Amino acid sequence: MERENFGNRFGVLVAMAGSAIGLGNLWRFPYLVGSYGGAAFIFVYIFCVFLLCLPIFISEVIVGRRSRSNAYGAFKKLAPGTRWKWLGAVSVVTPIIVVSYYSVVGGWSVEYFFKSVTLDFTTGITRAEMGTMFGTFISSVWAPIIGHTIFLLLTAFIIVAGVKSGIEKFGKIMMPLLFVLIILIAIRAATLPGAGDGLKYLFKPDFSKIDATVCAAALGQAFFTLSLGVGTILTYGSYVSKKENIIASSTYTAVSDFLFAILASCAIMPAVFAFGLNPQEGPGLVFETLPFIFANMPLGWLAAILFFLALIVAALTSSISLYEVGVAYLVEERKYSRRGASVLVFLVAWILGILCSLSFGPLSDIRIFGQTIFNFFDKLSANVLMPVGGLLIVIFVGWAMKKNDVLDELTNGGTLKNRGISSFVLFLVRYVCPLAVIAVFLTAVIF
Ligand code: PHE
Repeated sequence: MERENFGNRFGVLVAMAGSAIGLGNLWRFPYLVGSYGGAAFIFVYIFCVFLLCLPIFISEVIVGRRSRSNAYGAFKKLAPGTRWKWLGAVSVVTPIIVVSYYSVVGGWSVEYFFKSVTLDFTTGITRAEMGTMFGTFISSVWAPIIGHTIFLLLTAFIIVAGVKSGIEKFGKIMMPLLFVLIILIAIRAATLPGAGDGLKYLFKPDFSKIDATVCAAALGQAFFTLSLGVGTILTYGSYVSKKENIIASSTYTAVSDFLFAILASCAIMPAVFAFGLNPQEGPGLVFETLPFIFANMPLGWLAAILFFLALIVAALTSSISLYEVGVAYLVEERKYSRRGASVLVFLVAWILGILCSLSFGPLSDIRIFGQTIFNFFDKLSANVLMPVGGLLIVIFVGWAMKKNDVLDELTNGGTLKNRGISSFVLFLVRYVCPLAVIAVFLTAVIF
């Protein structure tokens, strides 16, 4: 069977940006900005995204496009008979772990979308009551599992439709919609009285706030948001046609992802400040603080519906990219049909997700290395598997692959006339990225 490709450059961009832009931008980034000092965090983050993580992103696309294979097959093809295939094996398992807990949070978004449509967030609810509402919801048994199931089923439907008529088509409709939604909400938030302080918090850096913890958090977030180290960009890279310019497409993706994270913060922080709330709320920011704000601001009901719709859409385009890694592997290496592979990945992610969901309630006593199941999955993937996976990928591209093969991919066989920038990217991949990633994580561990 012939392998599918994305149709054109816009198709590549929406698929890649769809993977990158997700809960990481709307949920994780704003609360990290809030917790780690606003503009100073954003400053370090820009450096991490464009100088360290973009070259890693490019490396994943190179491995995918060069091998035209799934994450496991890629290493078997490019480095036959070596241990690199273990990196491939881990790259197939990690996204299944991520998609299982990711779709639990996706399920929370589904529930909060329904709540906003039925106008559950109304004036008179206090901030504390909103916190209790969220706590009671996630620790209950059925409601979050139903949300998780709906979310995972939606993901599976898009995947079954295929690369071009599923992933690419969905992205082409949803990604522009997502930008429109977030811009509308940002305009609403920025025009609230008192919003100026929030904008100042986002854009006026206080450099004294930068320390090792801030750097590690910024680098971790850059990995997470660019979907690195878990085989997703590699797998999408294998659907990129030989005509595309890898450096350009990857850079557009990183820029859109960055802009979206900033827009999301502009939709949230000004409102937090306008209501005199604490920006350092942590993970509860989106599900506790925001609904409280929506309940109390003019046209807030509409903003709530738009925001939770955006959250679902953003999460879906990311979860399909995680899901596709396992499906591509099963279809190409194990000869499953696309439908059969989708069912198998669904079952595994569904069951693991149920365990994650229950770990907020009845299973909260089960601890792995002192963490609940959900937190363990989250920490294991974001703090260990993703950075290590990303590090190994740059080492693979920088040192195990032939230099000429890498340059050949970057310049499309010399037809692109971008030799200078390609050599610079290769320099970053070989020296700067591995050393910087190791340094940041070691410093974070030591301090
Ligand atoms: N980048 C996605 C986000 O920001 C999360 C993700 C991580 C998706 C890893 C795929 C792979 O939400």
